[in-house]
Amino acid sequence: MKKMMLPVAVAAVSAVISQNALAETWRMALGDAQGGTQYAMGEKFAQLIHEKTDGEVNIDLFPNGQLGSEEDTVSSASMGILDLSVLAINNITPFSPTVGVLTLPYVITSPEDAKTLTQGEIGQQLVENTIRDAGVRVLSWAYSGCRVLSNSSKPVASPDDLRGLTIRVPRNEIMIASYQEWGVNPLPMAWSETFTALQQGVVDGQDNPYITINAMKFYEVQDYITDICYVFSLEPLVMSESKFQSLSPEMQEIVLEAGQEATAYSYDYLLETEESIKQVLVEEHGIQIIKPANDESEWIERASSIWPRFYDSIGGEERLEEALQALGRDLN
Ligand code: MLT
Repeated sequence: MKKMMLPVAVAAVSAVISQNALAETWRMALGDAQGGTQYAMGEKFAQLIHEKTDGEVNIDLFPNGQLGSEEDTVSSASMGILDLSVLAINNITPFSPTVGVLTLPYVITSPEDAKTLTQGEIGQQLVENTIRDAGVRVLSWAYSGCRVLSNSSKPVASPDDLRGLTIRVPRNEIMIASYQEWGVNPLPMAWSETFTALQQGVVDGQDNPYITINAMKFYEVQDYITDICYVFSLEPLVMSESKFQSLSPEMQEIVLEAGQEATAYSYDYLLETEESIKQVLVEEHGIQIIKPANDESEWIERASSIWPRFYDSIGGEERLEEALQALGRDLN
């Protein structure tokens, strides 16, 4: 009886071995620490890919800039030496300037606006432009919320209160120009260096969404948050285009489908989590939240005045008109 069973057992083991031999592992870089919107979406995508490929493709996540700065990961993916990266849209803009239409101040002011633009025709155009310009394909979007302004020094309610503060910004011309309109010269710096710069007092403040501030433990080095919404943080999951093109048509289909599902998951994650994280920041970490003075009007007027300077880089004034129209607004 025992002799009869042996071949079956051997066959089962070798089936497992051959399955494992076929299995592939992809690497996903993430700029943020675990516990934020990037990780939630990246993890969901990895889980979906595992399920949809019956375990033949697994994805390892490397959070907290372990695989380089967010900008570095775009170059690595573009060269085909990294499979996937989740990073803030503002750190893709230097590679693919038309994406800047999504980071112009006060264009996207709510999760609904973000969904409309990323999941509509404009989002599709930007996916194509990013492949062309940066060699990476946007598969999914993490929705992280409005970029609010944090600092360690004093309550800031109006742009004039920024005087005397050194604020870190991404290396993004649009964001630099916004701060200049608010009367300060910000310090452009890679995301991966920001916590240390805040801790050592090289900079007093920065802007990012509530969920990101919490995931990055910025509450350890920041005391005040001004509740502005000048840029809505979109954090795409990008895949190396050469990697994507090397996949079979069936696998490409799986990857695109998982991307769409992870996008939907991320939207719900934001709506379900942001408010409670805001409370945690206040109640557990002692952060003081300040309402912008005069319904944010000075912030809005001054920052929006930079729009015309970026028409050329985003592909013309009409790109902004299209975006605003999709949001039910117009340019004037
Ligand atoms: C940045 O400020 O550079 C990014 O928005 C950070 C992020 O990826 O969350």
